[in-house]
Amino acid sequence: MDVEGLKRLKGIRKLVMLTAYDYQMAKILDAAGVDVILVGDSLGMIVLGYSDTKSVTMEDMVRHTGAVARGTKSALVVSDMPIDTYNNAEDAVKNVERLIHVGADAVKLEGYNPEVIDALTSSGIPVMGHVGLLPQTAEQYMVRGKSREEAERIMSDASALDKHGVFSIVLESIPLGLAKLVTESVGATTIGIGAGIHCDDQVLVINDMLGMDTSFKPKHVKRYACLTETIREDANKFIEDVRNGRFPDDAHSFH
Ligand code: KIV
Repeated sequence: MDVEGLKRLKGIRKLVMLTAYDYQMAKILDAAGVDVILVGDSLGMIVLGYSDTKSVTMEDMVRHTGAVARGTKSALVVSDMPIDTYNNAEDAVKNVERLIHVGADAVKLEGYNPEVIDALTSSGIPVMGHVGLLPQTAEQYMVRGKSREEAERIMSDASALDKHGVFSIVLESIPLGLAKLVTESVGATTIGIGAGIHCDDQVLVINDMLGMDTSFKPKHVKRYACLTETIREDANKFIEDVRNGRFPDDAHSFH
């Protein structure tokens, strides 16, 4: 999937984006037919154990983007720019080049900064925008765009991003009616997370979808598995086998 192909599918077929942070997961998702793999800065919480995305660095994103790109053959690889790495055009271009160098096809930025978006799009770098709940600056994780003022702000940011040439916009945690209005008013393809059915496309964080943390179950997440249980049960079986002398048996030993 390339950016031009992805743009052409707006209104024709829904695209699927999932996050991945490592080589093996990227390989599985790519083979499954996911259209876009996002190396999200959610890796701060999922992989690194921070309480939010604010501590994620360029070094983290470069390492994990490289791993995901090595596992991906067909999907578009989009890498998140960490907080404070795109405060001005010069920093943004320099940092994006590092992500492109290790295999990112495009980058995602939160919010609207015309100078930065223009600098990237005019250098030929495909940019994905992100409006609604913006984890890099949010004090609280809650639905955005419920008040008229906030809804208008989200609409105008999305429209400005669209005019400045982003190919896609993530709509995070906004009412589905507002997501419909945004989707109908922009040429970019909209990718919803907690933004309802009317978005062009959908994204989830892979670990949420697979039930890797049973204590975390926000309303927008549909769990397709409970890997916490599966992993715990299999670890328990291994513990039993080792403690009872059943592993390694002859079939798993060298002669
Ligand atoms: O970092 C991330 O995983 C994201 C998704 C929530 C879209 O930005």
